[in-house]
Amino acid sequence: MTDLSTYYMGLPVHSPIVAASSALTASLAQIIELEKYGAGAVVLKSLFEEEIVVELDRRMNKMHAENYIYPETIEFYEDRDVDDILTGYLKLIFEAKKNLDIPVIASINCVTSGNWHYFAKYIQEAGADGLELNIFTLPADIATPGKDYEEAALKIVKDTMAEVFIPLSVKISPYYSGLANMISQFDQLGVKGVALFNRYFSPDFDMDELLMKPGPIYSDEGDYLNSLRWIALLSGKVGCDLYATNGIHDGLTVAKMIAAGAQGVQVASSLYKNGIAHISTLNRQLAEWMEKKEFGGLEQLRGILSHNNMENPAGLLRVQFMRHFAGK
Ligand SMILES: Cc1cc2nc3c(=O)[nH]c(=O)nc-3n(C[C@H](O)[C@H](O)[C@H](O)COP(=O)(O)O)c2cc1C
Repeated sequence: MTDLSTYYMGLPVHSPIVAASSALTASLAQIIELEKYGAGAVVLKSLFEEEIVVELDRRMNKMHAENYIYPETIEFYEDRDVDDILTGYLKLIFEAKKNLDIPVIASINCVTSGNWHYFAKYIQEAGADGLELNIFTLPADIATPGKDYEEAALKIVKDTMAEVFIPLSVKISPYYSGLANMISQFDQLGVKGVALFNRYFSPDFDMDELLMKPGPIYSDEGDYLNSLRWIALLSGKVGCDLYATNGIHDGLTVAKMIAAGAQGVQVASSLYKNGIAHISTLNRQLAEWMEKKEFGGLEQLRGILSHNNMENPAGLLRVQFMRHFAGK
């Protein structure tokens, strides 16, 4: 079988296929299964910034009441009962590191660098191999220019990097006014990688009840195209890794992402739809395709269809259906 080993966030992995952050990576039993079925690494279910801030406030108040002064006096995970979300999260990291061989990457959903970024230190102490920041604010305020959202995102990364030495990645939305430049700025701050693009809750309308209802939770098979384009456009132009996420449901799509230049891919919806064991199908399909095409390893494939390397890259920049609109 073709060797699929590579690096993810600079960490050696036996496969580029990583279990994305979701409820499927929220328990030790599930992530053990994900490893068993061949995940290269796991990104744990995210903690939310709000959860951290609220819980740290509660602890500080309790400590003041009990005459403790330093947050460091709390042992967050060893020999403690899981009595709140943060302790439970750190304990999950700690247990995962004891029980798994693959890298365990923690995850935080955040919109500001607020009052939480020092919690990243505890994540590192609990043993996480890396930390992914899932950063997104819907730029819906008509009075706020794009650069304000961008500066807020960059500040989160800067502040968090000051706390930890483990590799840091960011998972982003495509809603930046200057997306390529923004990714380059994350790169310049020293992130190990950028994951393109997260999937968000999308509202839909129920036209019988005339109410809002949630849109589809899971991605479909065609949803990978935006990530493919941007990875192909930026591969080799930024120094950090690029990871593909959104709409990766089969091994051929993984191969496309690597050909575009992705260092690895993250999957969630295809595991929800097909079960955790689908990871082994993805690995097998990727390996079989590479063998058929006589690629000996991922390095031979990586980036061959990127903007830098493709024979006729202009199509990657095309956005209008010219012929279609011209009626041809
Ligand atoms: C049910 C569900 C829960 C998710 N929870 C999180 C989460 O807690 N944190 C996060 O960063 N991404 C979360 N995601 C996004 C996934 O990690 C992934 O980036 C996204 O779904 C795109 O990949 P996919 O098309 O394979 O689902 C979630 C996705 C789904 C479908």
